[in-house]
Amino acid sequence: MNEKRSQIAITGANGFVGRNLIKFLNHNKVSIISLTRSKHLSLKYETNVRYSDLDQKNLISKLKNCNALVHLIGQGTQSVDATYDDVNIELTKTIVKLCKNAKIRKIVYISGFGVSKSTTFGYFISKFKAEQEIIKSGLDYTILRASYIVGNNDPLTKNLNKQIKNDSVTIPGSGSYRLQPISVDDVTKVILASTTSKQFSNKIVDLVGPQTVTFENFVRRFTKKQAKIKKVDLEEAYHTALNQPKNAIYGLDDLNILVGDFVGSHKKLERLCGFKLTPLKKIL
Ligand SMILES: NC(=O)c1ccc[n+]([C@@H]2O[C@H](COP(=O)([O-])OP(=O)(O)OC[C@H]3O[C@@H](n4cnc5c(N)ncnc54)[C@H](OP(=O)(O)O)[C@@H]3O)[C@@H](O)[C@H]2O)c1
Repeated sequence: MNEKRSQIAITGANGFVGRNLIKFLNHNKVSIISLTRSKHLSLKYETNVRYSDLDQKNLISKLKNCNALVHLIGQGTQSVDATYDDVNIELTKTIVKLCKNAKIRKIVYISGFGVSKSTTFGYFISKFKAEQEIIKSGLDYTILRASYIVGNNDPLTKNLNKQIKNDSVTIPGSGSYRLQPISVDDVTKVILASTTSKQFSNKIVDLVGPQTVTFENFVRRFTKKQAKIKKVDLEEAYHTALNQPKNAIYGLDDLNILVGDFVGSHKKLERLCGFKLTPLKKIL
């Protein structure tokens, strides 16, 4: 992957996936336009565009040479000031409009693993509605429904490391619910492939790792006996998340996703991307 490829725009570029994606694209000499609200240090093949409003007119001309946009703006906790509707749905509508105005024909979006039409979970409803905005836009799309993306400084790793520093890691409930972590390095490769390969055209693909693991097993392997492990009653964990959100180790929607026990198959992803996904023992 040495030749210079066409230009890719990235929203949510300061986030965990965004930072890793930019590093990967830059390493492969792909030209990048990163869109951020706050300060951002650009890499060699990157041009950063700071904005205060995604509707602002000058963004259109800055994006006019991009052939794809990777939409990484999203949030997994809502507040009175920033609801799921505001961020996950409304900003997706704005991004779709921006793609059309700048004549960017391809959009890649990271949705959530477990999202479906029948969901009753607010976060998943917002992701489902964002997906629908993208699908009905007429743009060529790839929607990647992600399980836990893990790598240096991902939110789950940060949370567990903080707990290890305090010598005690909490497992809500039994810990027997499962997750299917995927390496951020695999995710960045899949995103690049989605922008270039027809195989990913107009598809929804589960972005899951090759193995499932119970949360307890994940925590034990991650912690490597550096801290004691404490199980807390699930009702207590939910009670703290609802009544003292600032003190909660796991937020309300973190708990919903964990206990949701969302697992699936990585086979379609491996078939489309043409490489073997990183095994769990290499991720942990
Ligand atoms: N990480 C995972 O395991 C995982 C799993 C499933 C789905 N996803 C989805 O993947 C995408 C990227 O995830 P991530 O882990 O990189 O998330 P992240 O680290 O939280 O980054 C999210 C980005 O969204 C931007 N953002 C949030 N609210 C915004 C607003 N109101 N206006 C403009 N920008 C806003 C943030 O910008 P600032 O930096 O300026 O605050 C940040 O750059 C998200 O849609 C997330 O829901 C991630």
